[in-house]
Amino acid sequence: MDKIDFKNRVAVITGSGSGLGRIYALELAKRGVSVVVNDPGGSRDGSGSDSRAADAVVEEIIIAGGKAVANYDSVVSIEGGANIIKTAVDTFGKVDILVNNAGILRDKSLLKITDDDWESVLSVHLKGTFCVSQAAFTVMKENNYGRIVNTASGAGIYGNYGQLNYCAAKMGIVGLMNGLSIEGAKYNIKCNTIAPVAASRMTEDIFTPEMNDRLKPEYVAPMVLFLASEKNQVTKMIFNCAGGWFSRAEIVCSPGKLFDISSESSQELTPEVIEQYWNAISSLEETKPLATLVDTFEYIYA
Ligand code: NAI
Repeated sequence: MDKIDFKNRVAVITGSGSGLGRIYALELAKRGVSVVVNDPGGSRDGSGSDSRAADAVVEEIIIAGGKAVANYDSVVSIEGGANIIKTAVDTFGKVDILVNNAGILRDKSLLKITDDDWESVLSVHLKGTFCVSQAAFTVMKENNYGRIVNTASGAGIYGNYGQLNYCAAKMGIVGLMNGLSIEGAKYNIKCNTIAPVAASRMTEDIFTPEMNDRLKPEYVAPMVLFLASEKNQVTKMIFNCAGGWFSRAEIVCSPGKLFDISSESSQELTPEVIEQYWNAISSLEETKPLATLVDTFEYIYA
């Protein structure tokens, strides 16, 4: 198998001062990628800051013979996103790869979530992905090349108790990918999303030591590196990555049931008709992913 070539590539990895992001940074740097290690270095809930988080990863990369620079901006503002990408351009001349990985947790059930819990989680995950992607897109568009890897979560895709703000933010990131990948297509900018599970400070009070052994961030990184490489030609896809398991997750559309509404004598559409045809409407048989919203017309005007 030929080794995937990352020569002369420049990557920005948000939140790479710890956990999964740190491993992506180390692995990309090992393959010759120049890396911007972005991290303000706050705590798990997003409070505080500490430049040592990003500095330590940069030092690790440089000691191993790689190229890296630290950036301490928060992803949550347009200015922050612009500055993170500016660090890449000023230091390494461009940006080819963006891994939107920064994240925080404020886990609470619906009735306990405060305005601040909602705002801060949505800001870091969803707005942060937007702010850095927008700045990166400008550079990638000029270079007619870009690989963006977003980070969702099974919590958003499938649902999880007590993480409502996080679930909403993570599914928002899937929506952001859907739009971005369509806009990026003509500029050779591919955007995909991973839903990882890995032992990190985010999961330290959830997993047992045995689970931690199985769920090393190193087992997620290969998919991120592949999606971030020139070899990757797919866009708008979601992949579960956990403990050596890689699988595709997808939002699909079923053929459903099309009612004849063409004439006066057509069947009247009522809630009772929905009840009557519930199985046909809700069946997942013959589902398929759609390239864009316009593809739903194929069913409406069948
Ligand atoms: P982590 O807490 O070790 O890493 C998150 C990093 O993001 C931290 O270094 C933190 O300082 C940084 N960060 C926080 N706010 C930031 C901001 N405003 N700007 C820039 N950086 C910021 O946690 P982990 O597990 O490595 O998480 C990485 C990503 O993976 C997150 O998006 C998380 O939601 C996602 N994820 C992780 C799962 C897991 O099982 N560990 C499961 C599903 C998703």
